[in-house]
Amino acid sequence: MEQYIIKGGNPLVGEVVIGGAKNAALGILAASIMTDGRCLIDNVPDVRDINVLLQAMEGIGAVIDRKSSNEVEISGKNIDSNGDLIVDNEYIRRIRASYYLIGALLGKYRKAKVVLPGGCDIGSRPIDQHIKGFRALGAKVKIEHGMVIAEAKVLRGAHIYLDVVSVGTTINIMMAASLAKGNTIIENAAKEPHIVDVANFLNSMGANIRGAGTDVIRIKGVEKFHDTEYSIIPDQIEAGTFMVAAAATKGDILIKNVIPKHLEAISAKLIEIGAEVEESDDAVRVVATRRLKHTQIKTLPYPGFPTDMQPQMAITLGLSKGTSTITESIFENRFRYVDELRRMGANIKMVDGNVAIIYGVDKYTGAEIDAPDLRAGAALVIAGLAAEGYTTVSQIGYIQRGYERFDEKLRSLGGLIEKVDSEREINKFRFKTGSMM
Ligand code: EPZ
Repeated sequence: MEQYIIKGGNPLVGEVVIGGAKNAALGILAASIMTDGRCLIDNVPDVRDINVLLQAMEGIGAVIDRKSSNEVEISGKNIDSNGDLIVDNEYIRRIRASYYLIGALLGKYRKAKVVLPGGCDIGSRPIDQHIKGFRALGAKVKIEHGMVIAEAKVLRGAHIYLDVVSVGTTINIMMAASLAKGNTIIENAAKEPHIVDVANFLNSMGANIRGAGTDVIRIKGVEKFHDTEYSIIPDQIEAGTFMVAAAATKGDILIKNVIPKHLEAISAKLIEIGAEVEESDDAVRVVATRRLKHTQIKTLPYPGFPTDMQPQMAITLGLSKGTSTITESIFENRFRYVDELRRMGANIKMVDGNVAIIYGVDKYTGAEIDAPDLRAGAALVIAGLAAEGYTTVSQIGYIQRGYERFDEKLRSLGGLIEKVDSEREINKFRFKTGSMM
């Protein structure tokens, strides 16, 4: 079984280039089948969730041409619209973004049959708002035998007020409504950078969407979409993860190919706890020279502090001076890394399931730990890089779902980390890095 082995204690120093945003790419790739034309999409991250989505799209007849690891050409022309348009396989069941194929297929063909979405186990993840949105547009939606089945004779624009701010729902409604008759207004829409990116992509295919990035999005339905070429925005969370890696290891990292505006909530917290953050046009540099301080964090929809950065920040605060608190307000089960981090010496008390009280310790010590989900997995790798001694992280498939060449990028910053598959390889790494069992 693949694991990462890490020898901690080296500050991470150097430059790293950030890839395309996974969560924008998932929406954009799904939306690309809404035209019979050709979509050439660049800056696509080469990560597992993306590859699973592309395979599922191929499964319904889309033609996918990987031009290179980060560029793909897609055509939805050969999708058999007379068939049932069933999206199901053992891999797609595990990812969340399968739900974007409901909005895309419903918009274009007025029908879709997609297996209920999975995704990281970070709490209950209902899709009631997606369903409410599709129904408001005139679709009949039912869930049978684990599949979401949506159909409409006609899709008509509607005024939709979301009960919760939801990224997935906002994107799904934007897609279906773009090819509906008439106008749609989404109120209480999510404002994440990837919402804007998916809207820009749809507009580049001929959609008429205004207001993405605010909480009211207005969509005028159009007849059909055309060819496009598009480049996906940089991944805000991958960038944030490397920012925190610099802070937690007392390092100095120049993080290139980012949009600093998207990172403001993260930069502000790092500055507050004593790190230096320098922004330029498309890069940020994070430097930490001494022990950082405590703070309070509450996760919120954008532009608040992102839930996807919560575990990484907790790892840093666990080594900071004083007592910090983190309140998770988006997902109820996003602290499964706490037990793992305790094995490394962290002192964290949980209150009411969604508040972590973190008493800063002087150091972590290496341990054998499991990645519980994508972001927590990446956070624990950083804990390992900051810790004294050796750490092994298992279940790294989670990390590979969303971080491209994570270990390679960390190595280029001086991190002692390797992907290993056997006890022999672990011993080889220990030998190479100066300690035999
Ligand atoms: C997206 O998930 C991201 N996933 C998540 O990324 C991210 O954590 C999350 O947005 C919040 O930013 C993708 O983009 C594929 P939501 P999503 O709908 O769309 C509730 C990562 O690590 N809700 O914005 O599933 C829901 O339970 C991940 O990359 C409903 O109640 O999140 C949650 O409390 C994991 N009913 C809140 O809304 C619904 O119908 C926000 O969820 C939909 C959501």
